[in-house]
Amino acid sequence: MTSFQSKLVSRLSPYVPGEQRHGADVVKLNTNENPYPPSPQVMQAIANIEGDDLRRYPDPEASALCKALADYEGVESNQVYVANGSDETLGLAFMAFFTDKAALQFPNISYSFYPVYCKLFDIQASPVALNPDFSLDVNAFTDDAGGICFPNPNAPTGLSLPLTDIEQLLQRYTQGVVLVDEAYSDFGAESAISLIDKYPNLLVTRTFSKGRSLAGMRVGAAFGNVELIRATAAVKNSFNSYPLDAVAQSAAIASLADEAYFQNCKQKIIHTRNTLANALQSRGFTVLDSSANFIFVSPKSVPIDAKTLYEGLNNLNVLVRYWPKDPIQDWLRISIGTDEEITLLLNAIDQVVTEHG
Ligand SMILES: Cc1ncc(COP(=O)(O)O)c(C=O)c1O
Repeated sequence: MTSFQSKLVSRLSPYVPGEQRHGADVVKLNTNENPYPPSPQVMQAIANIEGDDLRRYPDPEASALCKALADYEGVESNQVYVANGSDETLGLAFMAFFTDKAALQFPNISYSFYPVYCKLFDIQASPVALNPDFSLDVNAFTDDAGGICFPNPNAPTGLSLPLTDIEQLLQRYTQGVVLVDEAYSDFGAESAISLIDKYPNLLVTRTFSKGRSLAGMRVGAAFGNVELIRATAAVKNSFNSYPLDAVAQSAAIASLADEAYFQNCKQKIIHTRNTLANALQSRGFTVLDSSANFIFVSPKSVPIDAKTLYEGLNNLNVLVRYWPKDPIQDWLRISIGTDEEITLLLNAIDQVVTEHG
């Protein structure tokens, strides 16, 4: 039979997102969404959208949002670009900086979209092994890399690198772009945005999906040297000139304006994260030290394996994330929910362990 697809399609291995199961009785702790709604100011900004805002094309450069982000982070507007979620923000960067280069290096246990983009954009991928305790040693990245990319905090481990380690890497590695994916930095890691004036090869990506409860709105941003931003604009305008719609631009600006709400949600999540970590440790789980809105846990000293626990929880409509691959096949990633959801989770864990342990 004739195949109509291009060679590109046959080389892809698409990203598999966490399940989006809905229902009042579902405890959804599998995709690191924020358990709290967006700020009321965001909802008001969305309600204020008028027909004309939608009839017209949105500002292709999202200038007001870039200015708001620049002011928020203390940088210039021309050091910022935005796109449709940080997935697209990353995609533009991968196209702009990592194609036609030596292999891109990223941690072997990390965000699983990086190898997906490498296939799509025909970038050679060179995964770098984490230490046995899952920590990242920046010395593992080598000078012959075509580029370097890692999340801080890392996903799914939640472990973060101090800024001094990132600066140490930037002092040594000047041959290509270092992309620091700060999707979860709102929950504890030190941001590398403060270094963009000093290192022209540093690009830092951020998202409104996690800390700002706007996963459904799809807003991502990147911060870097003017030359880097210009390069991504060339890619953006060769692909989609209007990545952010008018509603998303207004909502994101309103979110940045409500600092008190943002800080409050963040503190609640950090508090719940610590409570959950303690509760699981007291049940014999190994819990990595998380700087994110999820924790990475292993039932090593509990009489159950991670896969059985994952399946048992799934049957009870409690969704967490599990990857059946070495060396994380005995680990689960659990997103931080509300205190009520965490109580339901712990009860469900106790039930599954009793039934299967
Ligand atoms: C490390 C990391 N980077 C980026 C993203 C993409 O986030 P979004 O496209 O929602 O901004 C995710 C999503 O889960 C992530 O885990």
